[in-house]
This record gives sequence, structure tokens and C-alpha cells, in this order.
Amino acid sequence: MRNVVITGGATGIGYALARHFMNAGDRVTITGRREHVLKEAAGRLGVAYAAFDAADPDAVTEALGRLPATVHVLVNNAGGNTDRARPAARGLRAVAEAWRANLDANLMSAVLVTSALIPRLPAGARVVNIGSIAARGTGSGSYGAAKAALESWTADLAAELGGSGGTANLVAPGLVLDTEFFGDGLDEEGIRRRVANTRNGRAGTPRDVAAAVGFLASPEAGHVTGQVVHVNGGAYLGR
Ligand SMILES: NC(=O)c1ccc[n+]([C@@H]2O[C@H](COP(=O)([O-])OP(=O)(O)OC[C@H]3O[C@@H](n4cnc5c(N)ncnc54)[C@H](OP(=O)(O)O)[C@@H]3O)[C@@H](O)[C@H]2O)c1
Repeated sequence: MRNVVITGGATGIGYALARHFMNAGDRVTITGRREHVLKEAAGRLGVAYAAFDAADPDAVTEALGRLPATVHVLVNNAGGNTDRARPAARGLRAVAEAWRANLDANLMSAVLVTSALIPRLPAGARVVNIGSIAARGTGSGSYGAAKAALESWTADLAAELGGSGGTANLVAPGLVLDTEFFGDGLDEEGIRRRVANTRNGRAGTPRDVAAAVGFLASPEAGHVTGQVVHVNGGAYLGR
């Protein structure tokens, strides 16, 4: 039985990932910062949980005792856009703070959790990072930049794990509904505009993303590594 760790696993895409791996017969641990949300989700799914801030090195170190001793599959899913408002005029301190928050949430969270768990990854381990269509477009500021950096680091990680038959890939979703990602910040017009960019005329679901991650984590995907897999209905073509 494989041990699967999913950061940000209590809501949205992470929750669908946890359900996917549970249904496949794996032993799943979900993480996140809000213990009550995690506890509730873990109870519903029948999985283990560990509450900690993935972007805080001390918190990650402390959490190691609550994570499996061997991690066959790690999905770095925790993240989100922490700088949605982006006021035009703000001081440099505020700019630095806002950029660092998005880099912390989306890049450092994955780098820290992976670095902490590398000694626990067996031969043939699978790491999947969750990026975003925002890395390839324009207009999303520090969020897109953080997800672009995640793509670059994923390629390095593929080289690091390759010697022992491990893989590292990134799944980049387009618009995915039924998550906490947009909060109350996405209206019908925002959805319509994004769906209009797709080739299949619909928004993505958390299950669409989970299916792609599930394949990359499978034994059959051992020769797929260092890649960015776009799950966006053709809204961006990664060819
Ligand atoms: N929904 C979309 O349209 C979309 C599109 C492209 C990419 N994505 C990416 O998909 C991933 C999942 O997002 P989602 O749409 O499922 O949104 P979500 O429901 O907000 O899920 C994000 C999860 O990450 C956790 N998290 C955030 N920061 C964390 C931290 N520092 N430490 C630990 N956990 C943290 C959150 O829990 P806590 O707040 O309790 O920590 C939450 O459970 C994110 O990386 C996001 O950038 C989403």
C-alpha cells in the first residue's frame, strides 16, 4: 500500500485528490493550516491529517513527526493567489510583502515540504506539483510568477529524483470551480470569459485535475518526468 501526502488536501482540488487516491487503495495524509477544516475533511474521507503551515520552515520541521516515514507519492497542491487586489499605488514595503506572500504560498510551500520529505522518498517515488495556467498567461502578477518558478524548480527536481527512478511533474489547471480559490471574487461574467477561452466550452472540475495527477503518480507513468501537464480544456495549448 502506498503512502500519499497531499498538501492543501481539505478543500477543492486537494480534497478531490485525496478521494482519488483513497479510492485507488492508497493510504492518504492531507495537510493544511486550519485544523478544524482538515479534521472535518479527514473524517469524511477516512484519511489521516496533519495541520501545519507548509510555507514555514519551522512548522514543516515540527510536522515531520506527524507525517509517514515513507512517502511514495507527494502532491504539492497547497497554494492560491494571496495578492488578488493588487492596488496600483503602494509602497515598496507593501510590494515586497505581497510578492513574498505569493512566493511563499505557491513556491516555498512545495520546496520546503519536498526538501523535508526527500529522505523519506523511496526509489520510484512520485512528486506532482500543482501549478496554474496563470504561469503562462499575463495579468496575474506575483501569483503567475510564483507558479512559473514552480515549473522551473519541478524540472530540477525531476533530475534529482531521476537517478532512483522517481519522477517530478507539474499539473497546471485552468479555471476549476467548486474550490475556495476565488473566495467570493468570481462572478458569472468572470466564469463566462474564462470558459469562452476553452476548446470544450466548460470549466474544469477538481476531479479533472485529480485524474491527471493520478496518472502521473501511477507506475505506468515512470517515463513521464520534468513535464508540465495542462488541464484546462484547451484554454492554453502547451504544445
Ligand atoms: N481553482 C482554480 O481555478 C485553480 C486554477 C489553477 C491552479 N489552482 C491551484 O490549485 C491548488 C489548489 O487550489 P484550489 O483551487 O483547490 O483552492 P483551495 O480550495 O483554496 O485549496 C487550497 C488549499 O491549500 C491550503 N493552503 C494554502 N496555503 C497553505 C499553506 N501555507 N500551508 C498549508 N496549506 C495551505 C488551504 O488550506 P488552509 O487555508 O487551511 O491552509 C486549502 O485547503 C492551488 O495551488 C491553486 O493555486 C487552482
